[in-house]
Amino acid sequence: MNRTWVFCLDVSRVLGLRFLPGLLLALLCLDPSLSFDLDPADKASLLLFRSSIQNPDRRLSAWSGSDRAYWTGVSCSVVGGRVVSLNLTDMNQSGDMGRGLCSLSSLDPLDLSWNRFSGSIPPCFGSLYNLTILNLGYNQFGRNLPDSWSRLDNLRELILTSNRELGGMLPSWIGNFSDRLEKLDLSLNSFEGAVPASLLQPNSLKHLTVLGFLNLADNAITGGIPSCIASLESLTPLNLSHNLLRYEVSPGLVISEKLFVLDLSFNELDGPLPSRIGKGAEKGLLLLDLSHNQFSGEIPPQITELKSLQVLLLSHNLLSGEIPARIGNLT
Ligand SMILES: *[C@@H]1O[C@H](CO)[C@@H](O)[C@H](O)[C@H]1NC(C)=O
Ligand SMILES: *[C@@H]1O[C@H](CO)[C@@H](O)[C@H](O)[C@H]1NC(C)=O
Ligand SMILES: *[C@@H]1O[C@H](CO)[C@@H](O)[C@H](O)[C@H]1NC(C)=O
Ligand SMILES: *[C@@H]1O[C@H](CO)[C@@H](O)[C@H](O)[C@H]1NC(C)=O
Ligand SMILES: *[C@@H]1O[C@H](CO)[C@@H](O)[C@H](O)[C@H]1NC(C)=O
Repeated sequence: MNRTWVFCLDVSRVLGLRFLPGLLLALLCLDPSLSFDLDPADKASLLLFRSSIQNPDRRLSAWSGSDRAYWTGVSCSVVGGRVVSLNLTDMNQSGDMGRGLCSLSSLDPLDLSWNRFSGSIPPCFGSLYNLTILNLGYNQFGRNLPDSWSRLDNLRELILTSNRELGGMLPSWIGNFSDRLEKLDLSLNSFEGAVPASLLQPNSLKHLTVLGFLNLADNAITGGIPSCIASLESLTPLNLSHNLLRYEVSPGLVISEKLFVLDLSFNELDGPLPSRIGKGAEKGLLLLDLSHNQFSGEIPPQITELKSLQVLLLSHNLLSGEIPARIGNLT
């Protein structure tokens, strides 16, 4: 609304309409068909992008002229007409976009989710420094995460879920490229290698103070579960399920006070079940899924101290012994 308003004041000045009563001006301002003048270079970028993809339903065919109604998914700034956001979610677009969007340096957010874009994830997105939200989820992007993306230090949300051809080693910078990272969703891809130190080790603390959502489920991640998941103080759900994680889990798997979902299922974790899940967890943990691993031994009675637990999944392990009597006290 603010943008539109400022824009209208500009128009009125240009047209010499300052005498118009406020109400009329306001009506003028709400008219969605008011023209907007795209920055010529940004316009050329959008058209280059469109020419490199398939646009089967012709939904972007209207991109032309200076009526904002025609520019589906595009918003631009009042001053300068720079493209400031592009949202083409669920528009049935496909193909390899190449470098089409890479010079739209004012862009934020960029949401291309739920299409069928393919080809490698453009390394040149790493120069879209102003991005705080980048969502490329549910597409067919491939290759690996380009190192140039480590420069996106304003990102709050990086969502790359469900790009089955996207993989390679999880880059070492994935946990410390942006101090503002709140949401990282790399699930349903093909990432390999261990969880990098920058993501789950205490020395990264100062980087991930606001990370609330971490989903690495359904990749091919190997190695062990670091005992210091605790250091991620803001984390609420943590999903590492459906990977190749193995080894024993530290007996004192201390976790953040805010964590309410911990899913480590469908891995190859072994040894005893962690006996001390952590102080914070006693208050808040709602769901604990350790099923489909190779945990052995008895169910530690301490598990009954998780007062708020509503779902506890321990099936498909090698557990033995008795079920702790007080398990009935759980909610
Ligand atoms: C893009 O548009 C969809 C539907 O219009 C909306 O749900 C989504 O939040 C938008 N994405 C961003 C990043 O604002
Ligand atoms: C998406 O486009 C394809 C053509 O490439 C068409 O066959 C299909 O029906 C479209 N799907 C939707 C949901 O519009
Ligand atoms: C990026 O954002 C900042 C702050 O909002 C703004 O001053 C700057 O002009 C933007 N950069 C570009 C290239 O648009
Ligand atoms: C990020 O973490 C990696 C691995 O821990 C480290 O090598 C690198 O220096 C860190 N980068 C920054 C900018 O802190
Ligand atoms: C974790 O991710 C897997 C795979 O995407 C999903 O099936 C599962 O429901 C998620 N767990 C939770 C607790 O949401």
